[in-house]
Amino acid sequence: MNMTIGIIGVGHLASYMVDGLMKADNPPTIILSPRGADNSARLAAKYDLRIANSNDAVVEGSDAVLLATRPGDLLDTITGLPWRDGQTAISVAAGVALSGLQAAVSPATAVRTLPITAAKICESPTCLFPENDVARAVFDLLGSVHVFDDEETYELASIQGVIFSVFHAGIQSIAEWMEETGLDKDTARELAARALRATGGMVLAHPENDFDHMVNEYATEGTLTRIALLELRKNGGLSGWPEALSASLARSREINRDTQ
Ligand SMILES: NC(=O)c1ccc[n+]([C@@H]2O[C@H](COP(=O)([O-])OP(=O)(O)OC[C@H]3O[C@@H](n4cnc5c(N)ncnc54)[C@H](OP(=O)(O)O)[C@@H]3O)[C@@H](O)[C@H]2O)c1
Repeated sequence: MNMTIGIIGVGHLASYMVDGLMKADNPPTIILSPRGADNSARLAAKYDLRIANSNDAVVEGSDAVLLATRPGDLLDTITGLPWRDGQTAISVAAGVALSGLQAAVSPATAVRTLPITAAKICESPTCLFPENDVARAVFDLLGSVHVFDDEETYELASIQGVIFSVFHAGIQSIAEWMEETGLDKDTARELAARALRATGGMVLAHPENDFDHMVNEYATEGTLTRIALLELRKNGGLSGWPEALSASLARSREINRDTQ
């Protein structure tokens, strides 16, 4: 990729993204912000990357800039930097509104994205609003790109990031039960993770099958799957999802309102 990508806010997510981008056959040139210092130093040493001495220098030296501070820090951090026409400012911040971003980076072009840390293994589904060739090219390297042309729908779709994160707790709960019940720790962890990855793989591979079809195919009368499924339903183990996701979406929309 013949592009220089600057990163402002080299924290948890940005570090995973750098690892993913550096796996490309032709990785972009990357310039890191001086903050967070530990991650920038580690990544610079690992991949021979440049650390700029200020956020201004990141913007001056880059074709596109990933904006990866916490949502509450973002607008203050990027306002007043030397943005120029033809540059793309790619926010990964949950909730922060496009209108607020655009006002802060003008005359550059602002876009919103919501990747997940699976960018590290190039398997991040990334939501993008609005369509943008530069952002698409970056996130194509890190997994799949899903474009939305209105912000409200984009916010809703971005809840995929929460689902990804929360399912770690699901895998934990399953793996811990397997371990407590007698399996060794590593086997329990691997089997729980592989079973969930396989579930997603089958759903994606068979768009012709609706969910009732798939669930009923496995949970037929008398099967072990049906016993477990009925138990989960009885205990509310599945019915909590709508409320949980609605709570996260409400917070995302609140941040959006506050940052317009
Ligand atoms: N983590 C995820 O899985 C995930 C998923 C999707 C979206 N996101 C979004 O990604 C963004 C970052 O999340 P995170 O989990 O990576 O947070 P994080 O680990 O706290 O990273 C934020 C980074 O921003 C840096 N920073 C703060 N103010 C700055 C400034 N003025 N200039 C330059 N850098 C500054 C911090 O540096 P210091 O260390 O020096 O304070 C820190 O390294 C958030 O907006 C979040 O909504 C995260």
